[in-house]
Amino acid sequence: MSSTIRNLFLKFLLLLILCSAFFIWSNTTEECKHEGCLNPDQAHVVAAKELVSKTGQLLGQVYDVASDLFKWSNTQARVISTEELASKTGKNDGQIWLSLLGQVYNVTSGRDFYGPDRSYNFFAGKDASPTFFTGVFNDEGLKADMRSFSPKDLQSLEVWIKFYAEHDSYNYVALLKGDYYDAKGNPTPLLNEITQKIASVDEGQEL
Ligand code: HEM
Repeated sequence: MSSTIRNLFLKFLLLLILCSAFFIWSNTTEECKHEGCLNPDQAHVVAAKELVSKTGQLLGQVYDVASDLFKWSNTQARVISTEELASKTGKNDGQIWLSLLGQVYNVTSGRDFYGPDRSYNFFAGKDASPTFFTGVFNDEGLKADMRSFSPKDLQSLEVWIKFYAEHDSYNYVALLKGDYYDAKGNPTPLLNEITQKIASVDEGQEL
């Protein structure tokens, strides 16, 4: 058989299969309006159709649940550990992150300030909130009790947070699990206290 004839034959066969499938399909939808008129062949076709339709519905539901889960996971705050933060100090040209009141920012583009051996490298890889207004850039400065500061002192942190949040090339990364946020990203009592003190200054009713 030459290849042209074989191709023609295959095309004819394919057409025949398609026509038969269409005939069975349309015949079934036209004739099988109730169970009483089904012959065994038609019953198979109807069963197959139902299977396809139910599988489609099931896949649709699975898709809906998966997309709801995806949306939900996107609304959950990302929370990182102090260990992860501590690994972002800019060593070996790596990223530089810092945290302020538990909000972590990527400040890699400020390598000239925060990079290894630069003047503000102290802030890299940690939450050094108290030192942002005390200027005590050492371990003692880190240990300072945030509850001991006045509302006005604390308010200066708000200025820094705005600075990082609105900076052109620094980006918010996540919340830090620790003094200011719990593992689920909920504010701790300490952060609530600080937020209230700052708000009291903003509202002219200093606590
Ligand atoms: C509580 C005290 C201070 C804090 C928390 C602080 C913090 C910072 C931070 C975070 C930056 C980098 C800003 C950025 O990312 O663009 C910066 C830059 C700078 N700071 Fe301070 N600073 C303090 C005090 C001072 C003082 C007392 C001086 C001057 C004597 C000073 C001079 C500078 C200068 C010149 C820059 C520009 C960048 C540089 O040349 O290193 N800062 N400061």
